[in-house]
Amino acid sequence: MTVLQSMYRKSRSHSRVTNSLNNSVINTPTQESRMINSSQRPRQRGLLFVVSAVIAIAVVGTAVSFESPTEAARNTTANSHSASAIQFNEDGELLRPTGYRKWTYAGTPVTPNDMNAGKAPFPEFHSVYMNPDAYDHYQKTGDFPDGTVLVKELISVGTRKATSGNGYFMGEFIGLEVSVKDKSRFKDQPGYWAYFSFGHEYPLLDKAKVQPSASCNECHDGNADDDWVFTQYYPVLRSAKMHATK
Ligand code: HEC
Repeated sequence: MTVLQSMYRKSRSHSRVTNSLNNSVINTPTQESRMINSSQRPRQRGLLFVVSAVIAIAVVGTAVSFESPTEAARNTTANSHSASAIQFNEDGELLRPTGYRKWTYAGTPVTPNDMNAGKAPFPEFHSVYMNPDAYDHYQKTGDFPDGTVLVKELISVGTRKATSGNGYFMGEFIGLEVSVKDKSRFKDQPGYWAYFSFGHEYPLLDKAKVQPSASCNECHDGNADDDWVFTQYYPVLRSAKMHATK
């Protein structure tokens, strides 16, 4: 199926999501102890000692053991803004993301050069990763939250033969493209999505400017299935959306 053929299937989601937990204030044990101390009376000292000891043990316990489920949930949601997954410099350029190979894997379209007149516009394998906090949100609601980052890592076709049969097998890393949804930083971009290219050959650029929307955004806007994202090629995201509980 070509990109254009998929247009009729387009169903974009425009929901606006705010991160309500960003505003939540979580008292640290020290703050809590201080609050207790300020209303302290002598006969409460024993009780205070016990409470402080329990808090101290809890703090040490957290440091040496695994995160509790509540703690993990709080951390995941509190970090869901793009600022925690990627960084911009003072000129508004995106610094090349690192660590994305540990993110949630969405899928790998492949446009081999030999099926595209010798040079595919985006060569060749495209492994797509999504920041886990945004994936977490998408899984729950079926919407891409503010702060979604999608990294598309380009990998050449290596060998065409393996013991499993003939085909296309991944060769070397050759490029990197990124899209970011951020309604305050990119309020003028259609759908609040901004697109960045770090090049199609190594060494990659260290930083990238926002691409003009005619270069990237318009094709995504016109052809992608869900909110500028080509979920029709990402089974992981389609499945997550199908099971979203919103
Ligand atoms: C002619 C249409 C077209 C243009 C122009 C285009 N893209 Fe895409 N893009 C696609 C398609 C189709 C996919 C999914 C399939 C694939 O990767 O082959 C995709 C996927 C992506 C993805 C993975 C996340 C997603 O939205 O599905 C990123 C990131 C991306 N493109 C970045 C860019 C950047 C950066 C530019 C501009 C330099 C750009 N694209 C221009 C068609 C386009």
